Amino acid sequence: EVPAMKDRFEDSFAMGAAVEPYQLEGTHGEILKRHYNSIVAENVMKPISIQPEEGEFDFTEADKIVNFAKENDMDLRFHTLIWHSQVPDWFFLDEEGNEMVDETDPNQREENKELLLERLENHVETVVKRYRDEVDAWDVVNEVIDPDAANDQGLRESAWYQITGTDYINKAFETAREHAGDDAQLFINDFNTEVEPKKTHLYNLVEDMLDQGVPIDGVGHQAHIQLDWPTLDEMKDSIDQFASLGLDNHITELDVSLYGWPPTPAFPSYDEIVMSGVLYDQATRYDQLFELYEELNDEISNVTFWGIADDHTWLDDRAEEYNDGVGKDAPFVFDPDFNVKPAYWEMMGYTVHG
Ligand code: G3I
Repeated sequence: EVPAMKDRFEDSFAMGAAVEPYQLEGTHGEILKRHYNSIVAENVMKPISIQPEEGEFDFTEADKIVNFAKENDMDLRFHTLIWHSQVPDWFFLDEEGNEMVDETDPNQREENKELLLERLENHVETVVKRYRDEVDAWDVVNEVIDPDAANDQGLRESAWYQITGTDYINKAFETAREHAGDDAQLFINDFNTEVEPKKTHLYNLVEDMLDQGVPIDGVGHQAHIQLDWPTLDEMKDSIDQFASLGLDNHITELDVSLYGWPPTPAFPSYDEIVMSGVLYDQATRYDQLFELYEELNDEISNVTFWGIADDHTWLDDRAEEYNDGVGKDAPFVFDPDFNVKPAYWEMMGYTVHG
């Protein structure tokens, strides 16, 4: 058996993976238990899964992951209390069933805002109370920055924002703190946290939150990265900057795509990927990446992959979508048959020769 990743990085940070409930069993489950000491749900803790209809909470799938974490003594990251995507439409409909964002009457808008913040509070309170003793870190809000937004602060103009401004962000954190307690680790999570102007927008928002006394403990850097983007320096600077605010950093959704964006052209199959030799370039990337994470280990307490092995990754959906239905990606350190890849050896500190 190959050395366990969680042991290798034990002195530096927790090692995590995102999972669907079906992956708690079989070979996925075995890899999880052997190599990881932290998990997060890839989908089943999002609002659309937990509260598909107003007041109808369904924790069946989420509980499976919570129980697995408990049984195997793993840390649990909660993803995600509030997001603009995978949130059911009912949140944004007024009592008459009209879209809140379409409302032009200022009085009605004010009422809608109150109603939406009430719904937010109810969702956050219910979820946090249920899992407060099990969850180690909460993604309280996800992806609230959008550098293409029309406003100067780069705030994503989601329905949440259009109806409440930034109140939904503060309310989400305050409600989480109130019910999760002082020890709870509250995170703001986003992608491209390394690149300008997004990094500065996020930094300014977080700084404002701290100034206002909004309870926040850390920044989640998704790290959906590529073979040579962003640069190591950009990644280091971002971690250093948020750490300088006194915040913890988690790498929350790590995967190293073989492609640029959009992912075209893409290899049609895993065999073609292997034959191309690109997995050795990826190994070099993983080597440098984990060397950097270790160097920054005082500032990073958790590194989580957005999946387990190359058999299951959201990047395949993207590769297919942009390549007429035929495209494969291979972002992780285990191959589709669960064997370790060159990337595994390099991240563990061994040298492989391509
Ligand atoms: O559950 C339905 C199923 O009933 C249906 O038959 C099937 C048909 O399309 O869809 C299933 O839902 C899919 C869901 O994943 C669960 O598998 C959605 O279509 C699909 O869009 C959804 O994708 C997820 C995506 O978030 C949604 O935006 C990905 O699995 C998940 O990896 C991805 O994760 C996000 C993070 O939450 C935030 N950061 C970016 C990251 C990657 O996009």
